[in-house]
Amino acid sequence: MKIERPRGTRDFLPEEMEKRRAIEAVMRRVAESYGYREVLTPTFEHLELFTMKSGEGIVEEIYAFKDKGGRDLALRPELTAPVMRMFVNECVGMPKPLRFYYFANCFRYERPQKGRYREFWQFGVELIGSASPLADAEVISLAYDIMKELKVKFDLHVGHVGLLRHLLRDLEEEVASKIMRLIDKKDVEALESYLEEVGVNRDLRDSIFSMIDLVGGREVIDSAREIIPDFDFGHVERVCEILDALDVKYRLDFGIARGLDYYTGIVFEAYAKEGLGAQNQICGGGSYRLAHLFGGEDTPATGFALGFDRIAEICEVRVEEKRKVVVVGFRGLEKEAFRIANMLRKKAVVVTDVMGRNVKKQLSYANDIRADFAVIVGERELREGKVAVKDLRSGEQIVVGLEELLNVI
Ligand code: HAM
Repeated sequence: MKIERPRGTRDFLPEEMEKRRAIEAVMRRVAESYGYREVLTPTFEHLELFTMKSGEGIVEEIYAFKDKGGRDLALRPELTAPVMRMFVNECVGMPKPLRFYYFANCFRYERPQKGRYREFWQFGVELIGSASPLADAEVISLAYDIMKELKVKFDLHVGHVGLLRHLLRDLEEEVASKIMRLIDKKDVEALESYLEEVGVNRDLRDSIFSMIDLVGGREVIDSAREIIPDFDFGHVERVCEILDALDVKYRLDFGIARGLDYYTGIVFEAYAKEGLGAQNQICGGGSYRLAHLFGGEDTPATGFALGFDRIAEICEVRVEEKRKVVVVGFRGLEKEAFRIANMLRKKAVVVTDVMGRNVKKQLSYANDIRADFAVIVGERELREGKVAVKDLRSGEQIVVGLEELLNVI
């Protein structure tokens, strides 16, 4: 019986993996150049870690299960909550700010489609310990640099959840969260009917719709100020100043609500301009507070996660091609072929026959796998300390001494 893989998961063949590793290497290099260091948390956690403050949207999508001891566990849907749990448990004495990055798989029970999977990978960072606009600007600039470095075409939108929250401050928390979720989903119809259902007055309704329409340059701050004159825009303005100074291209967007409930301040999202269709959000992040919920001191933090699979889908990277050599041995010379292969591995990717094939079939396999060279180990040459080297691209063949072999491939 053929067994299919579970819905929403994927297999990755070598070519795809080489590409993914090349992309991952760029992400790591840029994050490390900003002083971020890698961390890793468990694949599964106590369920409550994710139900405490992630928001209903995420909770509905959680892969939850009971283990044999009856504990409620969940596969991680994201890594911000786990990293903050780790911070509270392990890192309290460390000098702040802490700069962590991660690259790991996440699990969400979503309806699979192009760019949306049930198992997917995030590359993310968390900058822990600062509530300054400098911290927000740093992580936005880092996300921007990674996407630039990968030559992805994207639009970056920067907002602040405080504005919408300020508007909704007199509503019950549950109602406000639901409104934020509908705004995040850009589901205007559902938002309209929900606002009516909970009896939100006309003025507030109009303010909400005006606010989520505010997308543009720094001038939208003035428009937002008209809607909420008593809100302090100092933080947003400072972040803008720094991003402008760094030549980061972005648009302010006060309609960003984010799907997760823990955000408290600046939020940002990046959307791929082409190649992804509806699931084009390739990065999401912002500042948040979680440490106090996990038994630690109230600690500000900010960060983002890149949707690795979506980026891999649209990103063209050059995968470094390593030279490939097949050591072809005549029957009875397998040990010698293995030994010569080992010597050549200093310089190239080397394979030898493990199928008991004759020389002709070994050479044909070498062509099939697009090897650059075949090193042919034969009785007569070997007696003189030599082997034949065939350049499989030109067809040229020469005989060289073993001591010279490393120089000719
Ligand atoms: P998020 O927006 O839920 O944020 O996820 C980040 C990115 O992961 C999304 O922008 C998207 O590219 C990708 N993603 C999400 N779900 C899927 C899926 N089902 N299939 C493929 N890709 C997906 C977070 O998870 C926050 N923890 C980000 C953060 C870090 N905020 C602060 N620090």
